[in-house]
Amino acid sequence: MNFMENETAQKLRGGYYTPEDLAAFLSAWVLEISPRRVLEPSCGDGVFLSALRASGGTFDLEITGFELDPEEAGKAKERAAQLGLLSCTINSSDFLGWAIANERGDEARFDAVIGNPPFIRYQYLPAPFQAKAEQIFRTLSLPFTKHTNAWVPFVLASVRLLRPGGRLAMVVPAEIIHVLHAQSLRSYLGEECSRLVIVDPEVLWFEGTLQGAVLLLAEKRRDANQKLEGLGIYEVHNREFLRMDPSKVFSTPKAMNGRTVAGKWTRALLDQETRDLLAEVEMHEDVHSFREVAKVDVGIVTGANKFFLVSDEVVRRNGLTKWAYPMFGRSEHCPGVIYDSEQHLHNARVGNPTNFLWFEDDSPLKEKRAKAYIESGETEKLHTRYKCRIRSPWYKVPSVYATEIGMLKRSHDLPRLILNEVGAFTTDTAYRIRAHAHLRAEKLVGCFYNSLTALSAELEGRHYGGGVLELVPSEIEKLMIPLPKAVQIDLRKLDRQVRSTDSADTVLAENSQPILGALGLRTDQKDLILHAWRRLRNRRHRTTSEQDIEHPLPTTSN
Ligand SMILES: C[S@@+](CC[C@H](N)C(=O)[O-])C[C@H]1O[C@@H](n2cnc3c(N)ncnc32)[C@H](O)[C@@H]1O
Repeated sequence: MNFMENETAQKLRGGYYTPEDLAAFLSAWVLEISPRRVLEPSCGDGVFLSALRASGGTFDLEITGFELDPEEAGKAKERAAQLGLLSCTINSSDFLGWAIANERGDEARFDAVIGNPPFIRYQYLPAPFQAKAEQIFRTLSLPFTKHTNAWVPFVLASVRLLRPGGRLAMVVPAEIIHVLHAQSLRSYLGEECSRLVIVDPEVLWFEGTLQGAVLLLAEKRRDANQKLEGLGIYEVHNREFLRMDPSKVFSTPKAMNGRTVAGKWTRALLDQETRDLLAEVEMHEDVHSFREVAKVDVGIVTGANKFFLVSDEVVRRNGLTKWAYPMFGRSEHCPGVIYDSEQHLHNARVGNPTNFLWFEDDSPLKEKRAKAYIESGETEKLHTRYKCRIRSPWYKVPSVYATEIGMLKRSHDLPRLILNEVGAFTTDTAYRIRAHAHLRAEKLVGCFYNSLTALSAELEGRHYGGGVLELVPSEIEKLMIPLPKAVQIDLRKLDRQVRSTDSADTVLAENSQPILGALGLRTDQKDLILHAWRRLRNRRHRTTSEQDIEHPLPTTSN
């Protein structure tokens, strides 16, 4: 968990500035519609002012800028004066408050909005800013969540302030494509904009931050009759696109509408052929959504894992054998698709926490060493922790049961189901999964390991800076899982293969053959799905910044 006091001042105000060449590209695109009034909602030291001027913006372009940090606002004002921007007003104040207070008529709206809104977690915003962020959602009748981030209400308010037919060009976090908390924004953009394009780079554009950024180009719908084209994604491998005409970049990607714009935007990362194939495969009678074939529950929540999940040595030393039950919870403790007694013994031998302490009643208080163990927890104030203090006694963990299948929340390459042969418990790092009555657990585990399911996990899941894929239960329920009747997967063999490889690609390709083959897919179609999965997995793993590339291509900065 990140704490506010550990964050840098730069991070807390979301102060990562836009490189000049990207600012110039975005400026050139909005200037194509010859705007009269432009808004820069969080202008920093004013890089977009220079970019607008350098890209052909006139001296009398009416620019309204906001910047909360007075020093940076001062620099922006100075820059505007030096550039001779006569009609530029920089407000050293909060943009969101102004947006709420200036809910004026259509004639007061902007022709264009440009910028790079601050990336600040909602919990880190001072209370008055939190309230304003929430109010922006309320004004637009959009569902609000405290998982939001400052950039989301900034973009919402900006689109709101744009006149019909106006353009918004912004640097936004790459997570706009998939995070659940941005769903309100995706829906709003989808409804309000006639066309949306994301410029998606292969490498990170900002040094010193793991946060990937993309460019968002959006054109606001002229009127209710204008057709909604939806969203297109323009992938770029380097900065060569900056030499192109921005309108070409905007018009090139084939946009898609419907479910892509309504939900996550990840499907737009696929080419048309793959999207069509997925739509076709989804309709196959042997392809199910995960929720149709299994139930997903969160793992056991102990409230104090170090106390309740312990090694054999701790059990022995404290006389806790009576209350110790087998458990697993880490990927490295379960490297295959079967958790069997051999793996469990191995984990125990190397000192992993393989025991879950389940005190169902006050029996531990009746034995000296066990009682001392409970008291040691109290000395550490574990009984005052939220999850512990709301139950009685505090050391009795609720909702304890094991399922035949487990699934770790996080994965590097792809999620896998694990057949839980020893009936081990799993805690909150894993989910508990039960196949529905008509389906054998072995079949579900074996068939889950295929490129179609892996691809749907990339489309439904979320990932953060480090590139790890995470799925929450509502996302798992949406996964596509092929279960052809005739297919029998040799689970022992699959387990051996998964354990013995560093890269999932080969095993995934091999195990997908019979499963996707039984759906009637041709070799080229199976390859298409595998390739799409690999591309999205690699995109998620991208952590390279341009500075890491030995011979970067020349840039087009002004
Ligand atoms: C990501 S930086 C971008 C600055 C500039 N637009 C650029 O692209 O280089 C975001 C800026 O927003 C400012 N900021 C943060 N909260 C703000 C608010 N409520 N109103 C106006 N500016 C804000 C920060 O101080 C920071 O300078």
